[in-house]
Amino acid sequence: MNSLATALCSVVVVLGTLPFFSYAQLDPYFYNSTCSNVHSIVRDVLSNVSQSDPRMLASLIRLHFHDCFVQGCDASILLNDTDTIVSEQSAPPNKNSIRGLDVVNQIKTEIEKACPGIVSCADILALAAEISSDLASGPTWDVPLGRRDSLTANQTLASDNLPGPSSTLDQLKSKFITNQNLNITDLVALSGAHTIGRAQCKFFVDRLYNFNSTGNPDSTLNTTLLASLQVICPNGGTGTNLTNLDLTTPDTFDSNYYSNLQLQNGLLQSDQELFNSTDADTIALVNSFSSNQTLFFENFKASMIKMGNLGVLTGSQGEIRTQCNFVNGNSSGLATQATSKDSSQHGMVSSM
Ligand code: HEM
Ligand SMILES: *[C@@H]1O[C@H](CO)[C@@H](O)[C@H](O)[C@H]1NC(C)=O
Ligand SMILES: *[C@@H]1O[C@H](CO)[C@@H](O)[C@H](O)[C@H]1NC(C)=O
Ligand SMILES: *[C@@H]1O[C@H](CO)[C@@H](O)[C@H](O)[C@H]1NC(C)=O
Ligand SMILES: *[C@@H]1O[C@H](CO)[C@@H](O)[C@H](O)[C@H]1NC(C)=O
Ligand SMILES: *[C@@H]1O[C@H](CO)[C@@H](O)[C@H](O)[C@H]1NC(C)=O
Ligand SMILES: *[C@@H]1O[C@H](CO)[C@@H](O)[C@H](O)[C@H]1NC(C)=O
Ligand SMILES: *[C@@H]1O[C@H](CO)[C@@H](O)[C@H](O)[C@H]1NC(C)=O
Ligand SMILES: *[C@@H]1O[C@H](CO)[C@@H](O)[C@H](O)[C@H]1NC(C)=O
Ligand SMILES: *[C@@H]1O[C@H](CO)[C@@H](O)[C@H](O)[C@H]1NC(C)=O
Ligand SMILES: *[C@@H]1O[C@H](CO)[C@@H](O)[C@H](O)[C@H]1NC(C)=O
Ligand SMILES: *[C@@H]1O[C@H](CO)[C@@H](O)[C@H](O)[C@H]1NC(C)=O
Repeated sequence: MNSLATALCSVVVVLGTLPFFSYAQLDPYFYNSTCSNVHSIVRDVLSNVSQSDPRMLASLIRLHFHDCFVQGCDASILLNDTDTIVSEQSAPPNKNSIRGLDVVNQIKTEIEKACPGIVSCADILALAAEISSDLASGPTWDVPLGRRDSLTANQTLASDNLPGPSSTLDQLKSKFITNQNLNITDLVALSGAHTIGRAQCKFFVDRLYNFNSTGNPDSTLNTTLLASLQVICPNGGTGTNLTNLDLTTPDTFDSNYYSNLQLQNGLLQSDQELFNSTDADTIALVNSFSSNQTLFFENFKASMIKMGNLGVLTGSQGEIRTQCNFVNGNSSGLATQATSKDSSQHGMVSSM
């Protein structure tokens, strides 16, 4: 009697809560019938751009990350300042640091020519990140698609949620695990994106001259690297000189990020923390990814897909922006697109 009541009760509880757990899934084939060339359009633009600017591949991977950690992967980072939007682009982690907004607009222009009003800016960021990894000789994966674009941005959240280069491991865990519900493997795998790209001196110069107010360099920084960085980043300089995040293969997506850490050659404090903190979990992961690039790539793919799912808008939520820097219909003179029909373009995706 009691167990029957419990069983009935459980059914009610399960049915009653199901709608709250069901959510629209992203789907790699989302644009199969509505914009089947979307991948090749993104690839063509990026192949061109990366020939004159190889760093752009790194910049675009980072842009997707900085989008996803702030109210989800909704292209909120692309919204410019207007009367109603306080842009995330001016938040300290982004200001004078993020790159690639013009390239995203270039991609969007090409896509709008082929399939107007169909592809979201948030999906462009996710696709550009994957194709950038591929073009830099990194892993490839089927990018789940069907994100829609936000109507808002949140500068405060950009300041709060994006990790800083002087983060300790505890602070990194808080940003990745506590705030985003990722795990320690995601943290270590995603940090491996620092196998390509550049960083400005200002983000690590404290390690070279006065680490943690000790008056000395960071003891976990390789002294050979320290000497070469001190030349590029003079004490009291503007801090805008650039240096490679991976001192061995700066534009190739490989596992050298992790072997660098084993030699105290991580550029940012947040990098070296993964190996020189007392956390056995991150040290073991660094050692595994260093010794097995396939293992790193498998984990990086899974973590990028996981990150790409954070807080996505789907179905009839948000909109498909016409111009990635502005929400639609703000009488800025840009053509507006009807977006209501887009929500039903694919049977697999529906809003709850
Ligand atoms: C773990 C915490 C992280 C911190 C503290 C951090 C911090 C930074 C900083 C300070 C820079 C240099 C920016 C500049 O000089 O303007 C940078 C560059 C970069 N970051 Fe991160 N990052 C983190 C995680 C990630 C993740 C998860 C990804 C992607 C999955 C990523 C991808 C990149 C890339 C590719 C660059 C080079 C960008 C370029 O050359 O334009 N980072 N990061
Ligand atoms: C998408 O198109 C590809 C190739 O045309 C086909 O193999 C695949 O079955 C299609 N998937 C869906 C979900 O429509
Ligand atoms: C790529 O560059 C070539 C040569 O400059 C040009 O013909 C082509 O239109 C460009 N494609 C894209 C997608 O930008
Ligand atoms: C949006 O702002 C960025 C600077 O943050 C600028 O480069 C870009 O041109 C702006 N976009 C438009 C369409 O004005
Ligand atoms: C619309 O966009 C324009 C930029 O093209 C901007 O100047 C204006 O403030 C925006 N209006 C609103 C209400 O957001
Ligand atoms: C930004 O996000 C925070 C935290 O979720 C929230 O309290 C705040 O109202 C948001 N601000 C805007 C402008 O949406
Ligand atoms: C992290 O999450 C992935 C799935 O998202 C899971 O396979 C893996 O076991 C988790 N790792 C840890 C250390 O919890
Ligand atoms: C910085 O110094 C404080 C105390 O002066 C210490 O507790 C902390 O562990 C140091 N941080 C690092 C990363 O060395
Ligand atoms: C950093 O970690 C390595 C490996 O455990 C160790 O050999 C080295 O002494 C550590 N350096 C510092 C300054 O803690
Ligand atoms: C940039 O680096 C060069 C050495 O490569 C150095 O001579 C110069 O002073 C640096 N400039 C700034 C502004 O730090
Ligand atoms: C410092 O880096 C060099 C290679 O860049 C390496 O040969 C050396 O072993 C490293 N030193 C330490 C203490 O890991
Ligand atoms: C490297 O990792 C891959 C993927 O997990 C695994 O299949 C392979 O056995 C590993 N190789 C070695 C030598 O451990």
